[in-house]
Amino acid sequence: MAKIAPSVLGADFARLGEEIRDADKSGVDLFHLDIMDGHFVPNISFGPAIVKTINGLTDKFLDVHLMLSEPEKYFEPFVEAGADSITFHIEVHPEPAKYAAQLKQMNVEVGLSVNPDTPAKRVLPYLENFDLLLVMSVFPGFGGQSFIESALETVAGAREHIDAHNLKTKVAVDGGVDGDNAAGIVAAGADILVMGSAFFNSNDRVNLTKMVQAL
Ligand code: DX5
Ligand code: ZN
Repeated sequence: MAKIAPSVLGADFARLGEEIRDADKSGVDLFHLDIMDGHFVPNISFGPAIVKTINGLTDKFLDVHLMLSEPEKYFEPFVEAGADSITFHIEVHPEPAKYAAQLKQMNVEVGLSVNPDTPAKRVLPYLENFDLLLVMSVFPGFGGQSFIESALETVAGAREHIDAHNLKTKVAVDGGVDGDNAAGIVAAGADILVMGSAFFNSNDRVNLTKMVQAL
């Protein structure tokens, strides 16, 4: 039973309200919100005001993916805007446990993300402090890129570690995920599939959602 998390970056922003309500009605499990600072990644997306707007449009769980060089400066505004989970990158905080503890104090779940060129073994010792591991299967910054196959090894390695240590950490995969590669990603050990363009460009979101949830 995998979960599907549409990445709102792939939505039509001219019709943001409709897009969120339609995704919600399609039966998705949660939403994935990409925050980019033009520094950690070469693109800028949106901030807490849009997160607050989205929070007003759906009751579903909001995972806020911070692609920021100094994510800790923005923990509070995003939590206040309605984030249920805050995910930040190991590349900016190689010793991330302190920030995980800070976020727990704010009563949100906490995620750790890892880029495709960061060795997976860097994150394993910290997984016990995190509710979510977000494995990037593209270099973050833009939607619509192709899936990087080596992410599957990171997923499998994390799955093995999580099971061997009886951890509750969920594994999500983000970037280039679609209806064709979904089954292989879940088979490698993913619990949650983030889908931007594949979800919002799909002409049958209900079926795509059911297909992922049946994996
Ligand atoms: C990439 C973002 C992703 C992105 C996924 O920088 O973190 O969440 O929106 O979009 P697709 O599914 O189109 O690759
Ligand atoms: Zn993302």
